[in-house]
Amino acid sequence: MSEDTNGRWSGFFLTLEGPEGCGKSTQAELLAEHFRRSGLLTVVTREPGGTVLGDKLRALLLDPAHGEMTPRTELLLYEAARAQHVEQVIRPALERGALVVCDRFMDSSSVYQGNGLGLYGESVALLNRFAVADVTPDLTVVLDLPAADGLRRANATGSPDRIEQRPAAFHERVRKGFLALARAEPARVVVVSATDRREQVCCDIIRMVTDRWRQ
Ligand code: TMP
Repeated sequence: MSEDTNGRWSGFFLTLEGPEGCGKSTQAELLAEHFRRSGLLTVVTREPGGTVLGDKLRALLLDPAHGEMTPRTELLLYEAARAQHVEQVIRPALERGALVVCDRFMDSSSVYQGNGLGLYGESVALLNRFAVADVTPDLTVVLDLPAADGLRRANATGSPDRIEQRPAAFHERVRKGFLALARAEPARVVVVSATDRREQVCCDIIRMVTDRWRQ
């Protein structure tokens, strides 16, 4: 968000969201390549992760051995990783004027732990606010595709992690949750079809960022 619109920072905070296998990581790399070539300071990061602590929490969260993890424990671990990530990586980068491209952020908690696991939406929203403080995305792109197609793509690259192992109905609720979020917050959350060519998807996102940044 530009300094003159709200004085928070001079960088731009883009988050990429969507169901499993939607191609967020590929898009994050393509976007970074494009914006770095244009001479822009670009930071690519991801959740859970992005910090030493966050990567350790990621390993705990995704390890299929932790089947005993309760939904509230799971949410708190994602939020803990997020709080560290915001203060150690995202906020400083935005204050330096960078474009921050983050592969998943608070909306994944709303959708996976809220819609997916059935945790009360207000509780998830409260914990999201606590973890991010005032660091909220300027733009969120949801890469949408049928949940079953995404799972097939994700499973083709390795053995499924603890979250990917959940039943198809969970992943359907996740997809629907992201689409509902875009309807609820159309100014911030935009849906792009993840089944389009990846170069096309990348061009669409570049246009959205340049239209919104320094308006
Ligand atoms: P990734 O595989 O897209 O990097 O994300 C890791 C997994 O963690 C993915 O299954 C989505 C899940 N997740 C949540 O359930 N809640 C969250 O808040 C985040 C950030 C990710």
